[in-house]
Amino acid sequence: MPNFPPAEPFRIKVIEPLKLTTRAERVEIIKKAHYNIFNIPAEDVYIDLLTDSGTSAMSQEQWAALMVGDESYAQCRNWFHLEAVIKDITGFKYVLPTHQGRPAENILFLVYIHPGDAAIANMFFDTTVTHVRHKGGLPRELIIDEGLDPESEHPFKGNVDIGKLEDYIQREGREKVSLIHVSVTCNNNAGQPVSMANLRTIRQVADKYGLPFTLDAARFAENAYFIKLREEGYAHKSIKEIAREMFSYADGCTMSAKKDGLVNIGGFLALNDEEKYRLAQQHLILMEGFLTYGGMAGRDLEALARGLTEVLDENYMANRIRQVHFLGNQLIDAGIPVLKPLGGHCVMLDMKRFLPHLSQDVFPCEAFNAELYIDSGTRATGIGQLAFGGVDKATGKIIYAPLEVVRLTIPRRVYTDNHMNVVAKSVIDIYQRRHMVRGMRVVWAPEVLRHFTAHLEPL
Ligand code: F0G
Repeated sequence: MPNFPPAEPFRIKVIEPLKLTTRAERVEIIKKAHYNIFNIPAEDVYIDLLTDSGTSAMSQEQWAALMVGDESYAQCRNWFHLEAVIKDITGFKYVLPTHQGRPAENILFLVYIHPGDAAIANMFFDTTVTHVRHKGGLPRELIIDEGLDPESEHPFKGNVDIGKLEDYIQREGREKVSLIHVSVTCNNNAGQPVSMANLRTIRQVADKYGLPFTLDAARFAENAYFIKLREEGYAHKSIKEIAREMFSYADGCTMSAKKDGLVNIGGFLALNDEEKYRLAQQHLILMEGFLTYGGMAGRDLEALARGLTEVLDENYMANRIRQVHFLGNQLIDAGIPVLKPLGGHCVMLDMKRFLPHLSQDVFPCEAFNAELYIDSGTRATGIGQLAFGGVDKATGKIIYAPLEVVRLTIPRRVYTDNHMNVVAKSVIDIYQRRHMVRGMRVVWAPEVLRHFTAHLEPL
């Protein structure tokens, strides 16, 4: 590498103009959206940090790939390419394409979960946990304690607590556990990685009790890069070699390719067990499409094959993580309570410390997100009481979400550091007048996954 601070290892060939709104317009827009950022028209957002999912900018190779799409119903050439790339990276025997991550989860849990039994994870993301419950499974999150401590600097805060894992299996009985499904990186606590040592040990526990162990691989390459940076013995290995070792400990994976696949749509399910694969095939044909396209167009399969190759490039990845940390470090320097250490795809703001005068009952994440949108046209997402809290049906008691955090999620290859500067300034400005931020109340919400559609209003 040249001897100057690293900048983007690409230049910009196509631009997408952004609309500039006034503060007064944004006050009206958020009101009309019932203070739910999912309802804001995307054109009215200046910097969209809602998600890193499906929001990546594709490369010239990926755009060129669209022209070599083979739209045959069965056995299109793009599938053979994609299948070969996935097998090369993961080493899994069988691959099924899906249109995004959740259908892969749906099918995995349909073939692995027995109703009434547990599915164990470090942490489950919102659609994942809902799919577990939908199959009658009992979600059990056995992340290490440091993973839920916003101030812990543990380098692998996505790790599963092996003691808790063995205790659970011994206490409940091996037959009361359907599978272990670990998310790399762990999305809910700021893209925290899982160490190779942890994955290796989970494999040993899974073997000891004869349990299946699968990965949620949405951000597998970012996880592999953190292993390279933080775990002894991996500094000289390539991201691809590290990823291959991560996958070698698992029996299969689900993948939302909208993240580390560097595409706008796509996903897959990979398995080693032939019997489960045969069952999964039937579900795929019924719900997604034929085995060689699974809900994607041929051209999308091709773009994904190329994206999965590009994400393993270390220059790409170094710049990707650098930009996330460029934003995070500005906030840390300004004394903002940020989840530490900084993780892979996002920076998370700890609302329990940012807005200590607001209890979780008045939805601090949503209150902050409205402020942020009005201040700078930035859209962030809340991972707290609205998304993960609720009321226990049996007891009527309020269930509190383990974390109350706002996620500033950085799309891949989309925004410049100048955009990050705008976001940092806006967050710092709000922090300086944080005492004035008022809580919210829910006016209307559905029973399941309420955060996507709920209506709120300021107190
Ligand atoms: N697993 C993880 C870890 C995820 O973060 C997501 C999606 C999924 C599975 C589901 O994949 O959206 O392709 O069906 N996360 C997005 C987010 C939506 O904003 O974090 P999907």
